[in-house]
Amino acid sequence: MNFQEKTFIITGASKGIGRALALELAAQKANLGLVARSEDTLKSLQAEITALGASAEIFVGSVSEEPLTEKVISTMLDRFGKIDFLINNAGYGAFGNVEHIDAQNWSDLMDTNVKGTFLYSKAVIPHMKKAQKGHIINIASDIAKRVFEGGSLYCASKYAQDAFSMALRKEVRKHGIKVSVLYSGLVDTDFHAHPQGDEKAKDWLKPKDMVDAILYVAGMPAHVVIDELMIHPLSQEY
Ligand SMILES: NC(=O)c1ccc[n+]([C@@H]2O[C@H](COP(=O)([O-])OP(=O)(O)OC[C@H]3O[C@@H](n4cnc5c(N)ncnc54)[C@H](OP(=O)(O)O)[C@@H]3O)[C@@H](O)[C@H]2O)c1
Repeated sequence: MNFQEKTFIITGASKGIGRALALELAAQKANLGLVARSEDTLKSLQAEITALGASAEIFVGSVSEEPLTEKVISTMLDRFGKIDFLINNAGYGAFGNVEHIDAQNWSDLMDTNVKGTFLYSKAVIPHMKKAQKGHIINIASDIAKRVFEGGSLYCASKYAQDAFSMALRKEVRKHGIKVSVLYSGLVDTDFHAHPQGDEKAKDWLKPKDMVDAILYVAGMPAHVVIDELMIHPLSQEY
C-alpha cells in the first residue's frame, strides 16, 4: 500500500520510532500531524518533511494535555478533512524497585503511556465512526506480556495500554475501525540509558524495522486487520 494523501497523527514524533515513521511517510507524501514536547526538534523535522514535498502540522506539548488533543484533531480535520491513522507511540520507561518510585514519577509515566493513548483514541473515534473506517495503532512493548524485577511501573503502564486497546477494539470494530497493537522488544533509540547508535544496541531492532512493521500492519486491505504483532531482534531472548 502507498500512503500518499493518507492522514496520520503520530504521537512521540520527535525522536526514535516516531521520527523514523514520520520521515518514511513524508517520502510517500502522506499528510502528517506530529506531536511531542520538544519544539526545536519538531520544527527541524517539519522542515525535512517539507523538503520531501509532504505536509506536516506540528503540535508541541504532552500527550497527557487534553486541550492539545482537541487542537490536534480540529487542526488536522480543517487542513486535511480526515484522519486515517492514529499512531499512539509517545512513551518512555522508568525503572527501579517499588520502594524507590516517587508517586509523581508514577503519575507522569502513566499520564504519558496510558492516558495519552486514551485521550488521542477518544478524540479520533467520533471522526472515524462517521467515516466508518480508520486505524488506531498502539506501540506497546513485549513488556505488555511479561514482567521483570525493577519494571513494575513501566510494565504496569504497558499492560494497561494493552488492556485498554483490547477493550477498545471490541467497542469500535463494528464501526469499521481497526485497533492494532505492536509488541516490540529492544529497539535502538534514545529510550535507553545509552544514546541511539550505541555499540550495545548494534544487534537490536532499528527504528526502520519498526517503521516497516507499522506500515505492514497499516497497509493491510480494508477487510483485514492485524490485531497484534510481536517483534524482536533475533539476538534477544523471548
Ligand atoms: N526503544 C525500545 O526498546 C522500545 C521497546 C518497546 C517499546 N517501545 C515503545 O516505543 C515507543 C517509542 O519509543 P522510542 O523507542 O522511539 O523512544 P524515544 O526515541 O525516546 O522517543 C520517544 C518519543 O516520545 C515522545 N514523548 C515522551 N513523552 C511524551 C509526552 N508526555 N508527550 C508527548 N510526547 C512524548 C518523545 O518526545 P519529546 O521528549 O520531545 O516529548 C519522543 O519523540 C514508546 O511508547 C516505547 O515505550 C520502545
